[in-house]
Amino acid sequence: MITVTDLRKVYRQGARDVVALDGVSMSVPKGSIHGIIGHSGAGKSTLVRCLTLLDRPTSGTVTIDGRELTNVKDAEIRQARRRIGMVFQHANLMDSRTAAANVAHPLELVGTPRREIQARVTELLALVGLADFADAYPAQLSGGQKQRVGIARALAAHPDVLLCDEPTSALDPRTTDEILDLIAELTRRLELTVLIITHEMNVVKRICDSVSLLEAGRVVEHGPLQEVASDLGGRLAKALIPLPATPPIPGGPVVELLMVGEHATEPVLSGLTRRFDTDVNVLAGSVETLAGTRFGRLRVQLDQSTDMDAVRTYLAAQGVAVEVAA
Ligand SMILES: Nc1ncnc2c1ncn2[C@@H]1O[C@H](COP(=O)(O)OP(=O)(O)O)[C@@H](O)[C@H]1O
Ligand SMILES: [Mg+2]
Repeated sequence: MITVTDLRKVYRQGARDVVALDGVSMSVPKGSIHGIIGHSGAGKSTLVRCLTLLDRPTSGTVTIDGRELTNVKDAEIRQARRRIGMVFQHANLMDSRTAAANVAHPLELVGTPRREIQARVTELLALVGLADFADAYPAQLSGGQKQRVGIARALAAHPDVLLCDEPTSALDPRTTDEILDLIAELTRRLELTVLIITHEMNVVKRICDSVSLLEAGRVVEHGPLQEVASDLGGRLAKALIPLPATPPIPGGPVVELLMVGEHATEPVLSGLTRRFDTDVNVLAGSVETLAGTRFGRLRVQLDQSTDMDAVRTYLAAQGVAVEVAA
C-alpha cells in the first residue's frame, strides 16, 4: 500500500516560484495498479522524483505500508529507496553486460553474496520470460526483451512498490500489450503496489485498477476505473470511451448516452423509439470493456419535438446516463 498525502513541490526559479505539485494525494492498495495520466508539464516527472526521493518534496508525505519515506535521514535514503523498484521508458541497460549481469547489478551494489545473486537472477529472468536469454547482450535483444530485463532488474531487491515511468512509450502496440500484461501478472503474483505514469490512455484501459488525472500539479479526477468511466461528463470517461467528433446537424436535440454493464445498446434505442414515437439517429458510438465491465457510449439525435425531460426520466430509470451535447 502506498499513500501520498498532500504532496507539494515548489521549485525556485530565479525570483519566482514554480509550483510543480500542488497538493497531490493518492492511495494505492497492495496488489493493484494505479495509473497517473497527464499532459506534458502536469508534474509527472516531479512526482516520480519525489516518490523515489531523488527530490525532497516541499511538504506532504509518502508512506509505504505504514512507514513514512519522506522523513528518512539522508544517510538512510538508499535503504529506503530499495522499497521502490523503477521501470523507465528506455530500459537503460548497460550495453557491455549480459542480461543476467544487468539484473545482478543492483544486488552487487548492496553487497549481496555471489551465490545468492546467481540464484536470484535465474529466478528473475524466468519470472519475466527470459530464462533462455541470460547470456544475451542488450544489442541482441528486442525492445520488449530489454524492457523485460529492466523489469527483472527493478524487482531484484524485492521492492514493495513498482514505479513505472512511461514503461511502454517506446514500444510498438503489440509489445506494449505484452509488457503491460507482464506487469499485471507480476502485480498479482508478487502482491506489488504499482504506479504507472503515462500519457497513453491505452495503458490505463488495459491494466489499471484505478487512475488519477494530473493537471498543473493537481489531481483533477481520480478513482477506480469503473467509477471514472461511469461519469458521463468526466474527462477521463470521455478519453476512456472516446466518440469521434461529429459536425453539428440541424434538427432535434443531440444527446450522449452512457450505458454501463448489462444495459445493452439495442434495447435502449428501440425502447426510446417505441415509447416516444421518435426517430433515433445514431451519430457515433463506441463500446469498451474496462476492468471487466462493458461500457457503451452513443451520440444520437432525436426528433425536434421530443420531450427531453421525459426522455431523461425514462433513461435514468433504465440506468442510462444522458448528456445533451452542445
Ligand atoms: N528543476 C526544476 N526547476 C524549475 N521548474 C521545474 C523543475 N522541474 C520541473 N519544473 C516545472 O514543474 C512543472 C512540472 O514539470 P514535470 O514534473 O517535468 O512535468 P511532466 O513530467 O508531467 O511533463 C513544469 O512547469 C516544469 O517547468
Ligand atoms: Mg516528464
